[in-house]
Amino acid sequence: MARLTGKVAIITGAGNGMGKAMALRFAEEEARIIVSDRDADNIQAVAAQINEAGGSAIADVTDVSDEEAVKQLVHTAVEKFGQLDILVNNAGIVDNFKTVVTATDELWDKVLKINLYAPFWACREAVPIMESQDGGGVILNISSVGGLFGGRGGAAYVTSKHGVIGLTKNITATYGVKGKVRANVLAPGSIITNIGTTITDPDPVGQKALQAAGGFDSPQGSGEDMANTALFLVSDESHFVNGSVVVADGGWTAL
Ligand SMILES: NC(=O)c1ccc[n+]([C@@H]2O[C@H](COP(=O)([O-])OP(=O)(O)OC[C@H]3O[C@@H](n4cnc5c(N)ncnc54)[C@H](O)[C@@H]3O)[C@@H](O)[C@H]2O)c1
Repeated sequence: MARLTGKVAIITGAGNGMGKAMALRFAEEEARIIVSDRDADNIQAVAAQINEAGGSAIADVTDVSDEEAVKQLVHTAVEKFGQLDILVNNAGIVDNFKTVVTATDELWDKVLKINLYAPFWACREAVPIMESQDGGGVILNISSVGGLFGGRGGAAYVTSKHGVIGLTKNITATYGVKGKVRANVLAPGSIITNIGTTITDPDPVGQKALQAAGGFDSPQGSGEDMANTALFLVSDESHFVNGSVVVADGGWTAL
């Protein structure tokens, strides 16, 4: 039996980067997946790739900054596949390293909506569903080493990623200890994806902090590295890992 046989998963931001790598990896392990992204072309291509390889994926186009759409996404899994076992809140954006002085309200709102409100909205819908199932469910929220330290992103990004860790631990504390919902955080370091192309106007003060933290010379991982770590965290092999933050950064923050 494969490692996710019989499981139904949602992955947000699965049209590219590590979300796509997770979708392909989870499908290899026989999960049925709602692959979701705001980019319709990319997400349809990911679903087609999985289905052509003999897996089972449904493409969903959702912008996770839309609360109603996020709610619907969670329920789509139950409507289409009859259950929801795994929720991966992966969609996220960065913030050009804008500091507390240079971040605008508009940027703050945008980053917090996608990186923190969206996981909150999705978890709020998913937890009761998971609690109602005999087998419960697993949540994996994608934070960052920016969720543990101050100098790995701008003010809004770092705040949002710290928030994701607090949200996850609170879910474990309230629904996970001897409960049915297991929730963990994956905190990647520097991973080669397309997210770097969105850093178009970096704040020099924010970047100086990254440089001081060794960010210009940090080890670089792949989407597949994150997919394999995520696979462990959503599979039953990690059943005793709950409310944890798993850092996957090639040792960067051990320095
Ligand atoms: N790449 C890194 O170095 C790194 C490090 C730490 C944490 N992360 C986190 O990992 C996650 C994935 O990042 P990635 O590097 O794979 O990025 P990426 O840009 O390669 O992929 C992100 C995907 O999310 C989608 N997305 C963005 N905003 C969305 C929205 N509002 N609604 C729906 N989909 C949306 C994009 O279309 C894209 O397909 C993010 O949460 C990011 O913060 C990345």
